Amino acid sequence: MKNKICIIGAGNLGLSLAKGLVDSGNYVAKDLYLTRRTIKKLDDLKSEGYNVSSNNIKSLKQAEIIIIAVLPQKINSVLNEIKNEINDKQLLISLASGVTIENIIKIIGSNIPIVRAMPNTAISIRQSMTCITTIPKWKDKLPEVRLIFNLVGQTEIIPEEKMTSATALCACGLAFFLRAIRAASQGGNEIDFHAGESLRMAAQTALGAAGLLLTNNSHPEDEIDKVTSPKGCTIAGLNEMEHNGFSSAFIKGITVSAEKAKDLY
Ligand SMILES: NC(=O)c1ccc[n+]([C@@H]2O[C@H](COP(=O)([O-])OP(=O)(O)OC[C@H]3O[C@@H](n4cnc5c(N)ncnc54)[C@H](OP(=O)(O)O)[C@@H]3O)[C@@H](O)[C@H]2O)c1
Repeated sequence: MKNKICIIGAGNLGLSLAKGLVDSGNYVAKDLYLTRRTIKKLDDLKSEGYNVSSNNIKSLKQAEIIIIAVLPQKINSVLNEIKNEINDKQLLISLASGVTIENIIKIIGSNIPIVRAMPNTAISIRQSMTCITTIPKWKDKLPEVRLIFNLVGQTEIIPEEKMTSATALCACGLAFFLRAIRAASQGGNEIDFHAGESLRMAAQTALGAAGLLLTNNSHPEDEIDKVTSPKGCTIAGLNEMEHNGFSSAFIKGITVSAEKAKDLY
């Protein structure tokens, strides 16, 4: 399975992916070719053994797998730059939100297999939720792509029309849960704890809550029932949050993000 990988656009997500792959132990830094225009910002990575360059063409020629991690508004110029340089033995994976496989085919044609993946930045600690999709013609490429992203978290194969929803729930979702943890830590700070102490306690509590659901394969309400005694402090706090629109705010936020994700390209 191990291939050389070129990541075009080694910014937040591209770099997080590179680090996650190396941490997995299945790749070493020299298997990865990272590009961006401001090459100076990759100096540290170079000293860690990664191949870094501002030359997309030279870099992609070294790799079997090319991952595009530039912003949606930059992807057309990158695709136009590389379209005559990639070949059908290579595989193109796009991480760009809102850019469909059809959009990419319009520029590079349909000879080179294309797969889309939607991870989140927890990929750097190998805890991403990554949704993967392609069109029927390249379905045989999905297992290979899944193996790569399984090294850096959990994966789901989904139909392409659900990719914007996956963006809202899983990529934007990371920020939503971080904001929830920040709010919890601010509450802890107000009642008793120093800010740093409160943040660590809130983050570990959130990790435990997610772990219960994933380990027990349970519903949140099953776990909530176990901690809400009659007339108790947990149900009182929970109901107060709901009176103030907690669940509703989360649901509305995800819905608005999904709408916005449709128009990023
Ligand atoms: N961040 C997330 O959580 C997340 C999650 C899922 C999907 N995504 C998607 O992933 C993509 C990257 O997001 P990001 O947050 O990582 O953005 P970012 O931090 O801005 O990274 C994009 C990188 O692309 C580089 N770049 C721009 N033009 C280039 C070119 N012509 N050749 C090579 N590199 C070029 C930029 O560096 P220079 O300006 O130095 O070239 C920058 O480092 C986006 O399409 C986004 O929709 C992001």
